[in-house]
Amino acid sequence: MRKIIIAIDGYSSSGKSSFAKSIAKKYGYIFIDTGAMYRAVTFYAMQNGLIDSTGAVDTAELIKSLPQIKITFRYNPDIEASSIYLNGQKIDEQIREVTVSDNVYIISGIPEVREHLVALQREMGKEKGVVVDGRDIGTVVFPDAELKIFMTADPEIRAMRRYMELSQAGKKVSLEEITQNILKRDNADITRTVGPLKKAEDALSLDNSNLSVEQQMMWVSEKIDKLIK
Ligand code: DC
Repeated sequence: MRKIIIAIDGYSSSGKSSFAKSIAKKYGYIFIDTGAMYRAVTFYAMQNGLIDSTGAVDTAELIKSLPQIKITFRYNPDIEASSIYLNGQKIDEQIREVTVSDNVYIISGIPEVREHLVALQREMGKEKGVVVDGRDIGTVVFPDAELKIFMTADPEIRAMRRYMELSQAGKKVSLEEITQNILKRDNADITRTVGPLKKAEDALSLDNSNLSVEQQMMWVSEKIDKLIK
C-alpha cells in the first residue's frame, strides 16, 4: 500500500489532535502533534527564564538555545498514543497548562523557532505514513502532502470542548478565560507574518461543529482509502 502524508490544519481546539490520532490509529500511521512542539519550546523558555510574566522574550538567548532543545515523541502504551519529551523529560501534562497556552502564541511567532521546528517536522515525516496536525502543515511544512484538511468549528463549541477537557483533568479555569485564550490565539494564528494559519488552496474544508468523531472518520477514510490503494 502506498504511504502518504496527511496534513491537518485548523484553529485551536477544533478537534485536530483527536481526529489525527484516530486516523493514525486506524492506518498505523505516526501522529505528529506540531502544536505540542511549539508548546515544548514555550515550556523550555518559561523554565529557563527566557520569557517573563509580561511576555517579554530574551529572543537572542532562546535562538542560541535551540540546538539544545531536543524534542522527541515516543509511543506510550498507557495512553495508546505518543508522549512528548523535552531533553528526555516527559512533558505531556506541563505543556497543557494555561500558562503555557497563554505564552505559546508569542514563542510561535519567532521566525527562527519556526524554522527550527519546521526542519524537525520535515525530518520526522520524510518516510511518509504520517498524520501531522498544526497551522502551517499544508502550506509550509508539507506543501506536497497527498491529503490536506482544514478544520474549523464555532468558537463557542471549541471553548466548551477545551473547558470540558480541562475540567475532566481537574483543572479549575473559567469558560470565559478559555474563550478569551482561544480568541487571542485565533488572532495570533491568522495575523502571524511567518507560517500563519491559512487554508491551502488544495485543502478540503471540514467544519466539525456538529459532527461526531465517527462521522469525521467516515468522511476521511473514504478519501484516504482512495489515495493509498
Ligand atoms: O495545536 P495547539 O493549540 O496545541 O498549538 C499550540 C500553539 O502553537 C498555537 O497557539 C499555535 C501554535 N502552532 C503554530 O504556530 N504552528 C503549528 N504548526 C502548530 C501550532
